[in-house]
Amino acid sequence: MITAIAAVSEDWGIGKNNDLLFNIPEDKKFFRRTTLGHTVIMGRKTLQTMPNGKPLKDRSNIILSRDVNFTCEGADVCRSVEEVLERVKDREKVFVAGGGEIYRDMLPYCDNAVITKVDGNPDADVFFPNLDEDPEWLLMNTSDDHEFEGLTFRYCIYEKK
Ligand SMILES: NC(=O)c1ccc[n+]([C@@H]2O[C@H](COP(=O)([O-])OP(=O)(O)OC[C@H]3O[C@@H](n4cnc5c(N)ncnc54)[C@H](OP(=O)(O)O)[C@@H]3O)[C@@H](O)[C@H]2O)c1
Repeated sequence: MITAIAAVSEDWGIGKNNDLLFNIPEDKKFFRRTTLGHTVIMGRKTLQTMPNGKPLKDRSNIILSRDVNFTCEGADVCRSVEEVLERVKDREKVFVAGGGEIYRDMLPYCDNAVITKVDGNPDADVFFPNLDEDPEWLLMNTSDDHEFEGLTFRYCIYEKK
């Protein structure tokens, strides 16, 4: 099962200047809890946003880069979506963890998506594809509202039809 996991604003913004739009500790814990022990796939630019630019602990990390010279200690590097799909084909739980390019490239192969929807529209330069406008995707479940420092957010589960 391949799941996209992301935190988005109302207009599906996910990042600005190669950084996250939101810093919500509860959501970070949710991400950690959800992905722990499983495979996470991310783009080379998103890897740079991780603490010390390092892969995530206690998860099997796959980094996408077309740069043949790029290597990353503690992660597998793949050069194409096809290579990623071959690498993960026998794995039970795989999470696509961004950023914008990787969500776009991997979404056709995702079975579902776990989206933290945050109210408001901070300025963004990277976006997740709008699943509410995509007839292939269905919103299956929405959590109660949560609050952090004036931000209201909720966890939404989408499934591909
Ligand atoms: N809100 C969230 O949940 C969330 C989650 C993650 C990231 N983000 C945000 O997203 C932004 C980064 O996203 P981004 O779109 O700029 O970059 P990205 O998707 O993280 O990484 C893009 C890089 O991945 C590689 N790549 C992309 N497609 C590929 C393919 N088909 N085959 C091989 N390599 C491929 C390329 O690396 P090379 O240049 O090395 O070839 C490309 O430059 C940041 O602002 C970050 O904070 C937000």
